[in-house]
Amino acid sequence: MMETLIVGLGERSYPIHIGSGLFEQAELLRAHIPRGRVVIVSNTTIAPLYLEKFQRALRSIDISSESVILPDGEQYKNSSTLNHIYDALLQNRCERTTPLIALGGGVVGDMTGYAAATYLRGVPFIQIPTTLLAQVDSSVGGKTGINHPLGKNMIGAFYQPKLVLADTDVLNTLPDKELSAGVAEVIKYGLIRDLSFLEWLESNIEKLLLRDAATLQYAITCSCQNKAQVVMADERESGQRALLNMGHTFGHAIESGMGYGNWLHGEGVAAGTVMAADLSQRLGWIGTHDVLRIRKLFERARLPTVAPDLGTSKYLELMGLDKKVEGGKMRFVLLKAIGKAVVAGDVPPELLQETLQACVYG
Ligand SMILES: NC(=O)c1ccc[n+]([C@@H]2O[C@H](COP(=O)([O-])OP(=O)(O)OC[C@H]3O[C@@H](n4cnc5c(N)ncnc54)[C@H](O)[C@@H]3O)[C@@H](O)[C@H]2O)c1
Ligand SMILES: [Zn+2]
Repeated sequence: MMETLIVGLGERSYPIHIGSGLFEQAELLRAHIPRGRVVIVSNTTIAPLYLEKFQRALRSIDISSESVILPDGEQYKNSSTLNHIYDALLQNRCERTTPLIALGGGVVGDMTGYAAATYLRGVPFIQIPTTLLAQVDSSVGGKTGINHPLGKNMIGAFYQPKLVLADTDVLNTLPDKELSAGVAEVIKYGLIRDLSFLEWLESNIEKLLLRDAATLQYAITCSCQNKAQVVMADERESGQRALLNMGHTFGHAIESGMGYGNWLHGEGVAAGTVMAADLSQRLGWIGTHDVLRIRKLFERARLPTVAPDLGTSKYLELMGLDKKVEGGKMRFVLLKAIGKAVVAGDVPPELLQETLQACVYG
């Protein structure tokens, strides 16, 4: 059984199909490939697993495809790899009607989306996300881009896909650590705006980690529904889209402080969300039992809940708060209750210091 959600953005609306075995149902794509030709962008890990199978499915409905295979890794999410995509598109004389299909995780999806946004000032774009993180987060919402040596995701565009196809079967080859990292974002949706989803996760987290297809499908559907609702209300992040960054200010500091690649993004988000919960508790908004409840769920998802001890001043520096602590205002996404996040603009610096000391090892 396939679930279909619509991200309603006027003429830029698009469907997200979620289910098992979708990958081979190429007819779902047909309406978006008017000239019978596509370019698939993937990477050296995913292509050997899925490219041929996917191309065979396309051939069965008379769609021809070229492929561009990128090196695997966040360190390649840059302008020289992007150029490699443009080279292939130009060499193959791709036209404005030729869709680009991203077959991969968030790195492939973000880069392919940006290539699609910019090649010939925009060509159609289809997402086939292959990590849980990409299925519940990066493939939905239209943020595309690459990294710059001076900052992550600093070059990019808002560019919505025509369609997202999330096949739960492809998650069977995903490493356990990557699966858990995706679960961190799934838990995030429950925490920020969906208490009943969070309660469902508390009852089903082990089944989810065992990759039970129906459980995955439900978790991905609920996550995408939550993300789509937020994006529909605030496509360009002028307001509530910021709530999706719960745990991310701390998480990014952990990721970059430990050296990119040592902590996965979702791992940083898990420990960072516990820190945000701790800070919410210090503000008196939630109780210590709520913080424990959150920790417990991340632990069951095999995610870290204690941050590395980088030192308070290093954390403040990495979060860009070193000067704000002395006077400026700090903004955090915090919890008013489990299932209800808010942007807090007035966090007392001493409470932040306490959180930074309480939530680290040692
Ligand atoms: N656009 C957005 O809104 C948004 C949101 C969140 C994250 N992101 C971006 O997403 C990226 C992270 O994405 P990610 O977590 O998917 O990482 P990723 O794309 O690097 O994939 C993780 C690893 O899993 C491998 N892999 C992917 N699918 C596989 C499969 N089915 N089987 C086996 N291995 C597989 C990949 O090759 C890679 O080695 C970051 O660059 C981040 O900035 C973007
Ligand atoms: Zn994230």
